[in-house]
Amino acid sequence: DMMAELLGHRRLEEKLKEKLGVSQAIVVAGDSDEEEWVKQELGRACVDELKRVAKKGDVFAVMGGTTLAAVANMVTPDETLATTTFVPARGGLGEKVEIQANTISAEFARRSGASYRLLHVPDQLSEEAYHSLVLERSVREILDVITSSAVVMHGIGDARRMAARRDSGQPFIETLKREEAVAEAFGYYFNANGEIIHKQRTIGLQLGELEGKYVISIAGGHTKANAILAYMKNRPSDVLVTDEGAARRLLSE
Ligand code: G3H
Repeated sequence: DMMAELLGHRRLEEKLKEKLGVSQAIVVAGDSDEEEWVKQELGRACVDELKRVAKKGDVFAVMGGTTLAAVANMVTPDETLATTTFVPARGGLGEKVEIQANTISAEFARRSGASYRLLHVPDQLSEEAYHSLVLERSVREILDVITSSAVVMHGIGDARRMAARRDSGQPFIETLKREEAVAEAFGYYFNANGEIIHKQRTIGLQLGELEGKYVISIAGGHTKANAILAYMKNRPSDVLVTDEGAARRLLSE
């Protein structure tokens, strides 16, 4: 019944907090690898959490992916959110437009009544182009807004699946295999110990700049269990929003 299910989730949340070192864990019913509606539930839980912590005038940085797209779809008009600004946390990572951070932050803003700012950066930046772009006034302005963000929301992906989805090329996929990459989160690839083994060159928030920000990680589905574990070894988030499928696999239940 409902009560037993709720109690079951609370128990999983406590165990996840202990295992991952996150301050808060939120577990929703189901397994998003098995059923599509579970992603909407992840989205709903994430939006509730965002509304709980949002303060007037806040800046929120969001990343891309299908999970974050589902979160944006669950946003409803809100008085506080209407005073805030959504920005992409980092520039292009080689994703389809529907699941790019730019598109998703605009969608968050459209549905909540907030403002948004876009970050226009090509996906594959050469070292040279990178260094001249960050000197552009318009880019520096939006980077300042991104740096001022109070909350960061991001997904976590399985490393090899993410590289394949982003058409990263066979040599790169071979490198990930050799280096035993497990997780991907906002353009960084991690091994099982949570060590960074590769970073996609794009501008925006760097992993080392999350200090002092409220970080919400959203990832579900049993096939993401190892990726979630690896990423949290690098830096446990303030909140993990996940589903039963990922939680049970993570805790080997
Ligand atoms: O960075 C992590 C990935 O964006 C996760 O993507 O939500 O489509 O699984 P996904």
